[in-house]
Amino acid sequence: MPYTLRAIKADITTLAVDAIVNAANSSLLGGGGVDGAIHRVAGPELLMECRSLKGCKTGDAKSTKGYQLPAQFVIHTVGPVWRGGNNGESELLASCYRRSLEIAVANNIHSIAFPSISTGVYGYPIDLATRVAVDTARLVLKEFSGIVDEVIFCCFSAGDLLVYEGILDGGIGEF
Ligand code: AR6
Repeated sequence: MPYTLRAIKADITTLAVDAIVNAANSSLLGGGGVDGAIHRVAGPELLMECRSLKGCKTGDAKSTKGYQLPAQFVIHTVGPVWRGGNNGESELLASCYRRSLEIAVANNIHSIAFPSISTGVYGYPIDLATRVAVDTARLVLKEFSGIVDEVIFCCFSAGDLLVYEGILDGGIGEF
């Protein structure tokens, strides 16, 4: 079954997809950036459910409901802090995308939107991170064909969108 990978520029908290992914920290108790935005829109019940999850390791992911968000689920993943690139960053970032998509498959999620994990506060270079995001999504979706059929890379800046479009070959890829 074919799937679509595309990049858009948007605030991820506005997207009415089955699941949005949160670039969280290992406490899962909120923070700045996209994490702060998601908690603000979802409301305090999200934090209550996150407390029950007892944290999350870097490279792993855990899901909650979306509460006041238009998205039904939030998949919280913890990206690596960029420390120069020789500290397992690319493997950990790939694992964030893989684990998030595995959780999506397990929850029968058809549409999912990712922010650009680790490229804000955590300092991962956008071009390198985008390559990992796109390659990993393609690889994992090939393995689990038939459930997730729409992956949106939700960029927060026009510059990030250009990088994603370049790597996705013009912005849209059908496989
Ligand atoms: N919608 C989409 N993307 C956004 C939004 C939004 N509303 N807000 C920011 N971004 P960051 P990280 C983009 O820093 O680098 C938090 O405090 C942003 O422009 O949110 O993984 C956590 O609690 C960037 O492209 O996440 C952690 O402590 C991308 O989202 C830490 O930051 C990721 O930036 C995680 O750092």
